Amino acid sequence: MGLADIYARGEAALRQKEIGFFLDGVETEFILENDRRVLDRYTFRQQCIDAVEADTRCRILGVDLATPVVMSAMTMPIPSMGEDALEQVARGLKNAGSLMWTGTPIPQNLARLAAVVPLAANVKPFSDRKKMFEAVEAVQKEGVHWVGIEIDSGQGTKVKDRQMAKDCTPLQSKELREIRAMVDRPLIFKGILSAVDAVKAVDAGADAIVVSNHGAHTLDYLPHPLQVMDEIVAAVGGRTVIIVDGGFRRGSDVLKGLAFDARLVGLGRPILYGLAADGERGVQAVIEEITGELKRLMTMTHTPTPAHAGKHLLVEF
Ligand SMILES: Cc1cc2nc3c(=O)[nH]c(=O)nc-3n(C[C@H](O)[C@H](O)[C@H](O)COP(=O)(O)O)c2cc1C
Repeated sequence: MGLADIYARGEAALRQKEIGFFLDGVETEFILENDRRVLDRYTFRQQCIDAVEADTRCRILGVDLATPVVMSAMTMPIPSMGEDALEQVARGLKNAGSLMWTGTPIPQNLARLAAVVPLAANVKPFSDRKKMFEAVEAVQKEGVHWVGIEIDSGQGTKVKDRQMAKDCTPLQSKELREIRAMVDRPLIFKGILSAVDAVKAVDAGADAIVVSNHGAHTLDYLPHPLQVMDEIVAAVGGRTVIIVDGGFRRGSDVLKGLAFDARLVGLGRPILYGLAADGERGVQAVIEEITGELKRLMTMTHTPTPAHAGKHLLVEF
C-alpha cells in the first residue's frame, strides 16, 4: 500500500465510525484548507549535480531518531480503535525510528509505552491547577522522555460546533516558570503562533516549542505555522528547538518545515490513518514512506542532513 492508499483507506475506515468526527476542524474548518494552501506555496530549488545520498537521522533533546518525522500529541480517538491500539502506535513508531507523543486523556500505561519508544506526553492547562501540576509530576514518574504543556488549550478544544476539552484556563508566564522548576527533563511548550508567545516560552525555560495551530481543534482562523515561522525564528534566535505541525502529509511538506528551521515535523491525522488502515504496520509505513520521500528530495536538493535544510531550498510562488 502506498501513502495515498493508506490515507484513503484509513480515512474511510475512521469515517465509518462515530470517531470519524475527530478528523474534522473547529467551526468553519478554514484552517484545514489553509494548511494545504500555505504548504502548496513552496516549490524546491533542485541541485542534483554532485549529489550525495542524504541521511535523515537526527539527535534532538537527547533522543536519537532515524527521521525528523514524529507523532504529534494525540490520545483520542486511539484507545477506541482497539484494546492495544496505543501499544500498536508505539511499536509502529519504534520500528520506523520515530517518537510517540500522547495528548488528552493522559494514557494510564505511559510507562509501558516509554519502554517501547521514545515518548513525550502532553498536559493541558486544566483550570484546576492542582490537577495540572499533579499530572506533570505523574508523567515524569512514568518515565516519559519529554514533557509537553499545551499553552494553546486555554479555552479548551472544539471540533466543528462541539466543545471537547473543557475546564481549561490560559497559563501565565509565572506558571510556565513554576512548571519549569518541577520538570527535570526536556520541557516543551506546544501551540506557539506568535513571536511574543515564543519569547515568553523561551524566557520561561522551554527546551523546545511546537509551532502549531493544534490541527484546527482550538480556535478558528489561526494561521498555518509557516505563516508565522519567520517571526518566531527571528525572535528566539536559536535559543530553543523548534518543532512544527499542521497539515504535513508528504516528505515534500516535511522538507518545507525543515527549510523554515524546524528540527522536527509532527503528524496528527496521518498516524490515525496508518493505524486505521493497517494497525502497527500502517503507522510504521506512514513514517517510513514519508521519510523515504524526504530522503529523495534531500538528496536532489543538496541537503545532506536535516540540519542543512534552509530557506535557500525554497522557490515561492
Ligand atoms: C484527533 C486529534 C486529537 C488531538 N489531540 C491533541 C491533544 O490531546 N493534545 C494536543 O496538544 N494536540 C492534540 N491534537 C493536535 C495535534 O497534536 C497536532 O497539533 C495536529 O493534529 C497536527 O495537524 P495534522 O493533524 O494536520 O497533522 C489532536 C489532533 C487530532 C486530529
